[in-house]
Amino acid sequence: MAIKRTQDPALSPVRTPAAPQEQAVFEQSLRPKSLGEYIGQSKIKGHLSMHIQAAKSRKEPLGHTLLHGPPGLGKTTLAHILAREMGAQIRITSGPALEKPGDLASILSNLQVGDTLFIDEIHRLRPVVEEMLYSAMEDYALDLVIGKGPTARSMRINLQPFTLVGATTKPGSMSAPLRDRFINHFKLAFYELLEMQSIVERSAELLNAPLETSAAHRIAESSRATPRIANRLLRSIRDYAHVQGLGTIDYACVESTLLALDIDSRGLDATDRAILNTVVTMFNGGPVGLSTIAAILAEEEETVEDVYEPYLLQQGLLQRTPKGRTATKRTYEVLGMTIPEQVQVTLF
Ligand code: ADE
Repeated sequence: MAIKRTQDPALSPVRTPAAPQEQAVFEQSLRPKSLGEYIGQSKIKGHLSMHIQAAKSRKEPLGHTLLHGPPGLGKTTLAHILAREMGAQIRITSGPALEKPGDLASILSNLQVGDTLFIDEIHRLRPVVEEMLYSAMEDYALDLVIGKGPTARSMRINLQPFTLVGATTKPGSMSAPLRDRFINHFKLAFYELLEMQSIVERSAELLNAPLETSAAHRIAESSRATPRIANRLLRSIRDYAHVQGLGTIDYACVESTLLALDIDSRGLDATDRAILNTVVTMFNGGPVGLSTIAAILAEEEETVEDVYEPYLLQQGLLQRTPKGRTATKRTYEVLGMTIPEQVQVTLF
């Protein structure tokens, strides 16, 4: 197998399809650059800081680290911080970008001592590519098969010691052999309200967009406990304030922007409410399958499951049961509906 020692297209910066380039640049500009600057996830920060200190004092790379959790909570940001705190370079790619084993071989063989390789959406690696990672993670080596048929030979290439940071929204979709090769596993949680408020205030300062405390609090409440959503909202609100000629973002400006964006007082958007309405109105509180909800909303199943549902589940507005999704008493409350008598007994 030929190994290219040039810049690889699979290494180009990875963005989710939902985040156009300009949005990505905006997000990057607000990213904290150190664990000290990073707000929230305090337990994870504590563990990471200890592992970084130990690895540095032993002059070894940090152990391979798996970060999982819903989108927008800061997995990519943490990967950048880890590399920076280790004084190492970061190489970024994603599961879907690595189409052939050769794509991964080329990236791995170009790594320098101590580099961090970040693979986003690692659960989407193809099995043939994933298998190549096993020896790379365990022995810093690549096992290659050269040629085909009876003349095929195997060859081992040594790699520089490196750290793999994997990010996934679906750890359950990863194979056990891959999952088990990560030394550190961290699950990012949704942020507390006060943490969200501090993130909004920090971002506003970086954007040179003064805002009142009540406005920061209101944005925090409406951001589904997710920094990426808070920063996107702040960006829109800043534009509204600008057009209205406001020097400081106030509560009323936040309210009017939220209204225009169809985001309600709990931060639920039109799609969130459509999911809840489908379960409650069309299926009498459920159970209803994910594929049916996705088809009715004209969304992909993966989007409903990975992007929308985690927050609705965390808020107790939806339940996953073996028979499908069901509503809860809170769902009816939030939608301002009374619970039909025959449904009442079945609900949590
Ligand atoms: N911007 C996005 N996420 C952040 C975080 N966790 N801390 C500080 N700023 C952020």
